[in-house]
Amino acid sequence: MIILGDVPVLPQKFGPSLYTKKGFAFYQALAQAVHQEGCLLCAQLHQSDSNIKGMVKYLPGVLTKKISHDQLRELLNQEVGPYITGLSAQRVSQITQAFGQAAQLAVQAGFDMVQVHGDRMCGSFSSPYFNRRTDQYGGSARNRARFGVEAVSAIREALPQIPIDYKLAVIQEDPHYGKAGVPESELSVFVPLLEKAGVTSFHVTLADHGKLSDTIPPKNHPDFGEEGCFLKFCDQVRSLTRLPICGVGGLTHPDFVEEQLAQRRIDCAALSRALLADPAWPRKAFSGQVRGINFCRRCNQCLKGMMSHQGARCIFEKEEFL
Ligand SMILES: Cc1cc2nc3c(=O)[nH]c(=O)nc-3n(C[C@H](O)[C@H](O)[C@H](O)COP(=O)(O)O)c2cc1C
Repeated sequence: MIILGDVPVLPQKFGPSLYTKKGFAFYQALAQAVHQEGCLLCAQLHQSDSNIKGMVKYLPGVLTKKISHDQLRELLNQEVGPYITGLSAQRVSQITQAFGQAAQLAVQAGFDMVQVHGDRMCGSFSSPYFNRRTDQYGGSARNRARFGVEAVSAIREALPQIPIDYKLAVIQEDPHYGKAGVPESELSVFVPLLEKAGVTSFHVTLADHGKLSDTIPPKNHPDFGEEGCFLKFCDQVRSLTRLPICGVGGLTHPDFVEEQLAQRRIDCAALSRALLADPAWPRKAFSGQVRGINFCRRCNQCLKGMMSHQGARCIFEKEEFL
């Protein structure tokens, strides 16, 4: 199955939207192409937590190149907390309900499954670092879980049978990593609530927000440089639910992945950079051609292209990109 990242839950002007004729046709064509290859397609439903109106004041600086893309990202990250904290409860409820509408449209376009992106707006609401609200969406862990729970419930209500995966972004507490997501000590509150709302599997990762190299760690990362770097969070979630768990993060070698599956640390594995390095990874692994795989070196050159809006290019794809 391919999980398509960041499918927006609200109508939007930038990029494909499920709500426009053109955007819908784009997703439909994609689903057809994926199905033709015998593969399934999952829509990662996502809502940005960037304050677009707040961005306007930085535009002159960006246009005159006084503010770089990295600086803009940092400035926007600084606004996440106040933005999330200041949204009216009515607006929040509109957004969570839109997860249901978006899921319905995604299924109509041909997606087989949906994933709720537990980072971004969902993660900011979950996080004690960003969410300073004093209403029913803030304060206690139970209240901070409400955004995600309502989003999942809206999907479940609209589509009683659809599998709902939840990309569970975990904040590591010692040493501290991650800002938007669920602190390790609060997983025992969030996981049962999300399960009760209708989640059918968890896709477990580290929470990010701002520091891409922590959620997509390079091989030389001080704490997450190992293969299967986030599996310890899967172990924690495993103790809280009987639902299937998908691991992600540095799952590079098929033998390593097989071991984790055999030990039931995970029920399924997600690969991102490994598939950029070698899109034929699954076919080669299944047919025993493991030696023929171009193994991801976790050098993160792919992120350079992504951050400069030139596409995520791998060193195996274009040497001149380096
Ligand atoms: C180019 C690129 C784009 C990504 N886009 C998304 C995304 O849209 N949504 C998401 O949840 N994660 C995204 N990720 C993170 C991956 O889903 C994954 O969690 C992370 O890369 C760690 O897995 P890996 O070691 O297999 O690369 C992206 C990663 C890369 C390299």
